[in-house]
Amino acid sequence: MALAKVMTILVLFVSASLSFAQSKDIGHISIRVSETGLEFAKDFFIREVISTTIPLQLPNIEKKVKIPLIGKVRMGLSNIRIYAVDVQSSRIETGGNGIVLSVSGATADLSMDWSYTYKASFFQISDHGDASVKVKGMDLKTTVTLVDDNGSLKIATRESDCKVKSIGIHINGGASWLYQGVVDAFEKNIISTVENNVSNQILEKLKKLDSFLQSLPKERKIDGNVAVNLSFAGNPVLGDSSVEVEISGLFLPSGSGVVASGHRSSSISRGDDKRMVAISIEEEVFNSATLVYFDAKRMHMVIDKSKNGSTLATSDWKLILPELYKLYPDVRMMLDMSVASPPDVSITENGIEAAIHLEISIDVQNSGAVLSVARISSVLNVAGSAEIAEKNLAGSLRLLDFNATMKWSRIGELQASYIKDVTSTILEELFLPNVNTRLKRGFPLPFPHGFTIKNAGIVYVENGVMVVSDIASY
Ligand SMILES: *[C@@H]1O[C@H](CO)[C@@H](O)[C@H](O)[C@H]1NC(C)=O
Ligand SMILES: *[C@@H]1O[C@H](CO)[C@@H](O)[C@H](O)[C@H]1NC(C)=O
Ligand SMILES: *[C@@H]1O[C@H](CO)[C@@H](O)[C@H](O)[C@H]1NC(C)=O
Ligand SMILES: *[C@@H]1O[C@H](CO)[C@@H](O)[C@H](O)[C@H]1NC(C)=O
Ligand SMILES: *[C@@H]1O[C@H](CO)[C@@H](O)[C@H](O)[C@H]1NC(C)=O
Repeated sequence: MALAKVMTILVLFVSASLSFAQSKDIGHISIRVSETGLEFAKDFFIREVISTTIPLQLPNIEKKVKIPLIGKVRMGLSNIRIYAVDVQSSRIETGGNGIVLSVSGATADLSMDWSYTYKASFFQISDHGDASVKVKGMDLKTTVTLVDDNGSLKIATRESDCKVKSIGIHINGGASWLYQGVVDAFEKNIISTVENNVSNQILEKLKKLDSFLQSLPKERKIDGNVAVNLSFAGNPVLGDSSVEVEISGLFLPSGSGVVASGHRSSSISRGDDKRMVAISIEEEVFNSATLVYFDAKRMHMVIDKSKNGSTLATSDWKLILPELYKLYPDVRMMLDMSVASPPDVSITENGIEAAIHLEISIDVQNSGAVLSVARISSVLNVAGSAEIAEKNLAGSLRLLDFNATMKWSRIGELQASYIKDVTSTILEELFLPNVNTRLKRGFPLPFPHGFTIKNAGIVYVENGVMVVSDIASY
């Protein structure tokens, strides 16, 4: 007894301090990008940067140069373009200072036009032609830090540094002195132009990425009256080669501005799955969904057709409800079903379970009017299984057990076994198939647009569901 009391106090104390510690925004969906996911993101980013910047036009360079035996020559390089970049080795690292992407020993190919003029006695001598430049040993280091800014993810700092070891210049045509003249006068300039413009291009791309991140919607509408809160909750956590972000994930009544809040389920243990992304969805998300759908009066259905599409009639129920058939032979019947309170969802390693309190009214068409002939109250326990359908989390429910009571009836007292049979038929043949039709469509998972998911899997854990997946670009 005393021990139980101590335990209760301890539990209360712990949960109180937890809720104090988490009095600020909390996330109920966490998205963890693993080492393989970061590798994928890195390669994707590098490919994107190259394909959207190449060819890169660099500014013209012009100079007066003193050439032995000739004198002052005005030389210019124009139409300088980087038209190819080859990255062989790159790394991504995470740590206290942010996410660091480094490229080492990349090469680039440039093309350019050269021209010169100088005065010799009374003549103006000029010539022009083209040249190619091979950039060797280009090292790049880019660092970003990400923060949560009022529910959006924002790049707080970005740095980019580019260093070129050496270049090789090949000149087509021109006088014999030209090659050395260009190397002496322009080598350093070409290197610094490449260095500055390449890092500026990368900073430019990061700026775009930042506006993209900030333009991500903070809410996603599911339908007319339900939405999901996609606000980021807290700064990303940089682990040892992983990045984890949390989003609220709770369902909300759409467009109402009502703030849904949930308490944190104890945190989900993540295992060591090697797939690129792990999305952990807490039990709270499921419970917020049932609450919002319940409040929006969406947990009510009237069914007047059987699974095969034929109209329900008392004649079909002759065997399980003989009294009904006797009083109302061959008339249409309807089942009006309402969930009486938001279903409570709980998740363990064994899967998802929920308890649903359902009020069932058996109605018949009686000389033009709908007449309620009996009312059954049932509590059913269902097991849910989740699955991935496209980029949605879909699922289905299956009946575990149920109880039922007849609340009142116009067709006389029914035996308990009849009530059980009727309820079982209603649940198995009508209610669950209808609910499952909806659940089959699923709810969107926070995967980025423009990618497909593959090798997706579902892991049930204490208090949550984890979706693990790899990502591929189209
Ligand atoms: C934070 O975001 C909300 C909407 O998501 C907006 O109404 C509010 O003005 C923002 N606050 C600041 C300080 O930007
Ligand atoms: C390109 O490099 C040159 C030389 O360093 C610099 O003057 C210019 O501002 C750079 N342009 C861009 C867009 O980075
Ligand atoms: C959405 O979630 C964020 C983060 O938990 C929270 O600050 C915000 O109030 C929520 N918005 C609504 C409309 O509930
Ligand atoms: C449809 O199902 C009902 C029972 O649910 C049955 O009585 C009826 O014969 C079926 N109709 C067809 C066309 O299969
Ligand atoms: C049905 O089950 C619920 C939940 O276990 C319980 O509250 C209710 O009393 C039960 N009803 C009957 C008639 O057994």
